[in-house]
Amino acid sequence: MIIEPLVLHHDRKTTLAGLREALAALPPMPTSISFSDYAALSASERSLYDEARDDYLRLTLRVPTPEQDLSTRILAKHIVANPRRKNSRRGLMVSAPMFYGKTELALLLARSVENDHSRKFPNYSADGEVPVVWVEVTDHATGKALLSQIIRFLAPTITLPTQITTDNLRRRAVELLHVHRTKLLVIDEAHNLGGSEPSSVIKALQNESSATVVLVGINLTRGKAFGSGDGLQVTMRCDLVELRRVDIQSDEGLALWRRWVAIFDRNLPLCEHGRGMLTKNFAALHAAADGRLSVLAMIIERLVASILDESERTDERVTRERLFAVLDGLRQTTRVRHRVQLSDLVEAA
Ligand SMILES: Nc1ncnc2c1ncn2[C@@H]1O[C@H](COP(=O)(O)OP(=O)(O)OP(=O)(O)O)[C@@H](O)[C@H]1O
Ligand SMILES: [Mg+2]
Repeated sequence: MIIEPLVLHHDRKTTLAGLREALAALPPMPTSISFSDYAALSASERSLYDEARDDYLRLTLRVPTPEQDLSTRILAKHIVANPRRKNSRRGLMVSAPMFYGKTELALLLARSVENDHSRKFPNYSADGEVPVVWVEVTDHATGKALLSQIIRFLAPTITLPTQITTDNLRRRAVELLHVHRTKLLVIDEAHNLGGSEPSSVIKALQNESSATVVLVGINLTRGKAFGSGDGLQVTMRCDLVELRRVDIQSDEGLALWRRWVAIFDRNLPLCEHGRGMLTKNFAALHAAADGRLSVLAMIIERLVASILDESERTDERVTRERLFAVLDGLRQTTRVRHRVQLSDLVEAA
C-alpha cells in the first residue's frame, strides 16, 4: 500500500497561497484494509495510514446542510447581479453563536466560487486573477486594518505609507479587487469590527467594488458593528443566513440529524468498521451535542482519535463503551454539558 502524505505549508487562510491550500486540501479516504493487514504494517506505515485517516476526517468528511444550499444559491445570484448594479450591491451575512460551523460554511462558499471561476477560466491563476479574497478581523479592528488586510492579500509585497488615509487605502483596495477580478470578499470574525467606522468602510467597498462581500461572525445582527446605527446600513444590504441547532422534535430536523449521523457512520475511516452503532444512537448523540453539528463533528473526531490512540487494540470497532468514553470525556474536557449515561446507549444489532 502506498500512501502519499498530505503536506501542508500554510497556517493561515489570509494569504493567497494559504487560502488556495485550504481550498485544495481535500485528501481522500485512504483505502480501507482489514485490521490484520493494518497490524502487519510497519510502525511507520501504520502512522502514515493513521495520519491519512485523521486528515480525511478533519479536512474532507463534511455533511451537507440546508444553510449550504441556501447561501450557495444566494451568493451565486449576487455574484452575477452585483457587477451589473451601480448602487445598493448586496452581500451575505453568515451569523451564529460561537463554534457553529460558520467558517466551514464560508470555506465551502469560497471553494465553490474558486472552482466555478477555474472552470470558466482555466488559466486564471497564471493570469493573476484572484476570485476569492479572505480576511480575518482581529479584536477591535478598524476599517483601516480591514483595508490593509485586503491590500496585503492581493499585493503582499506592497509597502504602505504609515500616514496613509482611509480614503487612499480604500481606493487602492478597490483598484486591486478590480484588477484581480475578485468576485468574493470573505470577512471572517466580523463581530470583531469595532463601532461604526468599519461598517461605513464596508458599505463604501460595496458601492465601489463589484466583489460580493460575505460577512461571517458571531451573532452579527446583535453586535455593535452591524446591529445598530450606521452598521444597520450594511445589514440591510445583506441577506442573512443563520446557523442553528437542530430540533429533532420536528420531522425535518429529525430527518436532517439522522442523515448527518448516517453519513458520519458510513464514512468512519476505521478498519473493518461495521456501521450501526452511531445510527442506532442518533438520539443520544443529539442529546450529547445539543443538536449542534459542530459538536457532533467533534464527537466523531474524538471517537476515531481515541480508537487510533489505543496502542494495544485488537480491533477498531465502535463499541458502546468506546462511544460512551468519548461522550463522557466531552463533558469533562469541554464546555459541553450533557446527561447521557452508558445505559442510554444501545448496542448495534
Ligand atoms: N458541514 C459540516 N460537516 C462536518 N463538520 C462540520 C461542518 N460544519 C462545521 N463542521 C465542524 O464544526 C467545527 C466548527 O466549525 P467552524 O470552525 O466552522 O465553526 P465557527 O462557527 O466558525 O467557530 P468560531 O465561532 O470559533 O469561529 C469544525 O470542527 C468543523 O469541521
Ligand atoms: Mg470561525
